[in-house]
Amino acid sequence: MTPDHNHYIAVEGIDGAGKSTQLSYITTYLRDQGFSVCLTREPGGTPLGEVFRRLIFEGVRGHIPGPYTETLLYVADRIEHLRRVVFSALESGSWVLSDRCLFSTLAYQGYARGLGIDRLIEIHKAVDAWVLPDLTLYFDVEPSVSLQRKEQTNEITRFEREGLEFMVRVREGYQVLLERLSQYIVRVDAKGSSEEVFERVRTVLVRKFPCCLNEEGGA
Ligand code: TMP
Repeated sequence: MTPDHNHYIAVEGIDGAGKSTQLSYITTYLRDQGFSVCLTREPGGTPLGEVFRRLIFEGVRGHIPGPYTETLLYVADRIEHLRRVVFSALESGSWVLSDRCLFSTLAYQGYARGLGIDRLIEIHKAVDAWVLPDLTLYFDVEPSVSLQRKEQTNEITRFEREGLEFMVRVREGYQVLLERLSQYIVRVDAKGSSEEVFERVRTVLVRKFPCCLNEEGGA
């Protein structure tokens, strides 16, 4: 969606796929090449988004949002995020690196929760939130491996509490998206050390943005 030297990149994957580590590698890699980088996330990349994030994950006095409410909160968060963070950072010449984007809603709510990928695409289009990053890196890992990783760090999120089966469905959802929207999303094998995974990421970045990125640059 952006013409020149800065681009909008998102990272995706099931919980525990190693997105955060790779985000910090990508940030260093781009900054080392002299680019300014806006590191952000969904949900929660804006002040309103922080409120949406708390509402989604913690609810209010024991009331946790149901599937459609949760979905619409993610979409509301996205609208704010696009308008207040993504577009303005791109206009100012920064690269935007986002921890998650609309592919999460399609995989988690559309596919795994069963609300329907097509229906959620329509909802995004209806509210001008159908904005696809220039590149989405999908970190693919076995759900059992990602759960183990999260258990070791004591980070058990609400979604992991829903069990391994939910994560298996989310992964299937991403598989569907890789097939349906293959020009926008690239699978990266998330097995191996973080350095090995970043080597795969770097190859994808250089191939996708050959005019901006230099083969020799590295994190
Ligand atoms: P994270 O910020 O640690 O990646 O966690 C965000 C959680 O929210 C993760 O379990 C995925 C979930 N999520 C959705 O279910 N739908 C969405 O649209 C987004 C952005 C996140």
